[in-house]
Order: sequence, then structure tokens, then C-alpha cells
Amino acid sequence: TVIVLDFGGQYNQLIARRVRECSVYCEVKPYTVSLEEIKAINPKGIIFTGGPNSVYDEDSPSYSRKIFELGIPILGICYGSQLMAHLLGGIVKTAPVSEYGHTEVEVDTTDIIFQGASPKSVCWMSHTDYIAQVPEGFHITAHTPVCPVAAMSFPEKKLYATQFHPEVIHTQEGLKMLENFVYQVCGCTGDWKMNSFVETAIYSLRKKIGSGRVLCALSGGVDSSVAAVLLSKAVGKQLTCVFVDHGLLRKNEGDEVEAVFGTKGAYELNFVRVNARQRYYEKLKGITEPEEKRKIIGAEFIRVFEEEAKKIGAVDFLVQGTIYPDVIESGLGKSAVIKSHHNVGGLPDVVDFKEIIEPLRMLFKDEVRKAGLELGIPEHLVFRQPFPGPGLGIRIVGEVTEEKVRIVQEADYIYREEIIRAGLDKELGQYFAALTNMRSVGVMGDFRTYDYAVALRAVNTSDFMTAEAAQIPWEVLGKVTSRIVNEVKGVNRVLYDCTGKPPGTIEFE
Ligand code: XMP
Repeated sequence: TVIVLDFGGQYNQLIARRVRECSVYCEVKPYTVSLEEIKAINPKGIIFTGGPNSVYDEDSPSYSRKIFELGIPILGICYGSQLMAHLLGGIVKTAPVSEYGHTEVEVDTTDIIFQGASPKSVCWMSHTDYIAQVPEGFHITAHTPVCPVAAMSFPEKKLYATQFHPEVIHTQEGLKMLENFVYQVCGCTGDWKMNSFVETAIYSLRKKIGSGRVLCALSGGVDSSVAAVLLSKAVGKQLTCVFVDHGLLRKNEGDEVEAVFGTKGAYELNFVRVNARQRYYEKLKGITEPEEKRKIIGAEFIRVFEEEAKKIGAVDFLVQGTIYPDVIESGLGKSAVIKSHHNVGGLPDVVDFKEIIEPLRMLFKDEVRKAGLELGIPEHLVFRQPFPGPGLGIRIVGEVTEEKVRIVQEADYIYREEIIRAGLDKELGQYFAALTNMRSVGVMGDFRTYDYAVALRAVNTSDFMTAEAAQIPWEVLGKVTSRIVNEVKGVNRVLYDCTGKPPGTIEFE
């Protein structure tokens, strides 16, 4: 294990991820973790992250100097490098101007960290303070025209530091530098694999939960599915998963989730499917304003979940499928927990439990998928495209009715089927059918029709913050269109949404 000691930097999880890419297990710990705990973990190496502070700020995060006496190799990055210098008697100063972005750094390639790197290596800098004088025993191993100490090392004590960020992709030889640290300095063997994450997680979940009872809200999405399976493997029937079918799911989706997790499914857990369709349709009657619809769907979810939880009685742990991108704040204690509350719309306030467990909070989406495959979860679940919590409720423009849900489910099913048939599903970020609230005149078999228009959407995106409308081949759109108007009663027109995000959003409401 390598520990990333988090001092509030933006890239803390990225560092951990890079280390895991070297096939070395890595976890982020807040800087408030005790020295005793670190000793107990006995990591092969420690990495200090960057952070927004200056070491001279009164409330800047720091650590006991004793950490340098453990004999464990340490790599300080950015703020972490300044902190190392400061704690060991070097001098840190504030520069009149910040150094930011791609920077050519002259490195000493005889230093163990820079072995195999180019003498002039392009690195990513982002700092105002800098190390003006290295502590006793250290020597300078890299510099730039404006930064006298871009890196320093004290090989006898296995202490290393870089002012730049080796973990970001813009540092061209950054991964090599991290590899040098974990392999050469820490002596890691690089034989860790994702299934060790699964094994380690199962082991530590068992230890933590003991004979306690666990409750999990299962949506059938990737994150909650992986979390549920992990928990089921760890504590089996001590786990209850509540799946709320709000009647706004895609066609057959409820049954698919039940087939995997229900009593006839592959996993040991108590699966509770709540059929709440009619109550949702009742609540949504006459409501047309998107935010109001979202609020009703969210609030009703909590109510249904709460009722089910009451039947189960008090539980010890509540599981959340929070993954790293959901954790806006770094792991500095409180902030992450606040975000968890938001994730489930205030759930923890109404359900009686002792503690939240978030087994995936260290992982990025693709790592969650890998873990899902390791756990043997079916591929169609693992590689599912994102589906919003409010479901089809925000893909039906205007009032939601049972009839409209049927229309959009059927249309969406055909669209997805044809996209997969055309082999386009893997390259699209997200694609779905939505129901506009426009009706228009058409003609079918010599008769006048006055029916709804379905809108097709498909986007390419890497982060879902921005997106481009995908250019679906005309033949595919033609086929989908003719199938929808022929097979779905109530539709006589199909439109394609060419809008990007911005100015559109991916969903319609
Ligand atoms: P928008 O429509 O904001 O969507 O461009 C961006 C991404 O987020 C998904 N989305 C949601 N996911 N709860 C969710 O879990 C929601 O309320 C929600 N709204 C949008 C959307 O599907 C897209 O992937």
C-alpha cells in the first residue's frame, strides 16, 4: 500500500489513481490521520499532496515532523514539497508572480526519480510559493528559470519532493517519475490488480460491519449495483437492498434489475422491490414545471424509501454508491459527508442508522466498471449508459401520464435496439428518446392523425458537463423513425435533436 496524505489539493485522487495505474494499491487519507494509524497501515510509501494554502498561513494543514523518522519513503508534491522543506528547516518564500501551466524543467537524470526522463522535461506547474532554500541533507534535482527548486531529494532518508505535479497528464514524463518513486524508492512490486481492490474491500467491509445490519438503495445503475454486490459478497443476508420502481424506468428495466438481484438472481441479499408506480403518477398529475416535477419525484423517493426502512427497523449502516467524481470536496473529513447527504436528497436525515458506508468513494467511473466486472456483474449492467434519478419523468416534456410513459418507453426501446444493431452504442456518451408535448397532424393509411412527436437525442461527451450532438448515420435515423411511427401508437413524427450542451442540456428538463 501507498498512502496519499491529503492536504486539500485538487489532484489528491488523481495521484492515487496514477499509483494504482502502476499496479500498486493506494488510498487517500486526510492529513488529520494519526501517526499511529499510519504506522498500523505500514505503507511502503507516502505521498504528500498539493493544497491551496501557504505553509505560513495560520490554519494551513500540517503534520508531525515524526513522520519523517518512520523510515518510510515520502514524496512531496507542490504544497507537499513546500511543507516537507518547511518542516525540515528549509525556507519557503512567496513569489511576486505565480508559475502556472506547461513549464520546461531541467532535471538531474541521475536522480532516482528522474531516471529515464529527458534532461529537459515538460512539467505542469501551479504555484505561488516556492522553496528558496532546501533543508540540510537535501540537494536540488530540478529547476526552471524562475523556480530554483523544482525538485529536491535526500536519498539516504528516502525523501523526495517536486514542485510540479507529476500526476497530471500535462507532465509528460510524470507517470515515469511516479513509477520510479513507487518501484525504485518504495520497492513496490506492482502486482496489485483490481480484484485485490475487491478482495481488500470485502475484507475491510466484513471487519467494519461485523454482525451489523446494512441497508442500501439500489437503482440498478452501475454505482449502486457494484456497491450492492460488494456488500452482498461481504455480509450476505445482513444486507437489504430496496429498489423503488417509480414507474419512470425504461422498458423492462424493473424486471431486469429484479432478475439480477431478486431471489432468483445470482446474489445473496434481501431484495425488496417496491412498486410505487401509481403513487408517482398520482403525485405528478397536472404538474408541468420541470423543477417541480424533479422535486416531487425526489421527495416521493425518500418517502417510499423511508416507509420500507421502517418495516425493516433500525439498521447499523446505510450504503451509498458515491464515487470519486461525486465527492466534490477532498477527503478532509466533513465535506465529503455533506455531499453524501445531497446525493440521496437528504435520505440520511430520515432513516435511522448509525453510519454511512461508501465503498466506492476512492474510484473513478472506469475503475468502478472494472470492479463490477471482477465481481461478475453482467456486462449490460456494468456498461450501462447514465440514467438520471428522476428517470423518464424528465424526458417527458410537460405533464407525466401513464400513457406518455408507455410511448416514451416503447420509442426509446426501439431507438436503443437499432443503435446497438448499428454498432454505435459503445461510441456514444448517451442516447435516448424523449417525448415532446407537441402534437401535430399527419396522415396514415388515408386517415388524418393528430399525435405526439418523439425527439431522439444522442451525444458525445467525456464528462457530461459539455456535449456535442452525435452525427448518427441517416440510414439508422430513417430506420428508427419508420419503426417508431409504425410500432408506437400515439406517435406520428420523429425529430432529431442537433443541439449541443451548452446551450442545451443533455436531458430535456
Ligand atoms: P444534463 O441534462 O444536466 O445532464 O446535461 C448531465 C448528465 O447528468 C444526468 N442527470 C442526472 N443524473 N440525477 C442523476 O442521477 C439527476 O437528477 C440528473 N439529471 C441529469 C444526465 O442523464 C446526464 O448524463
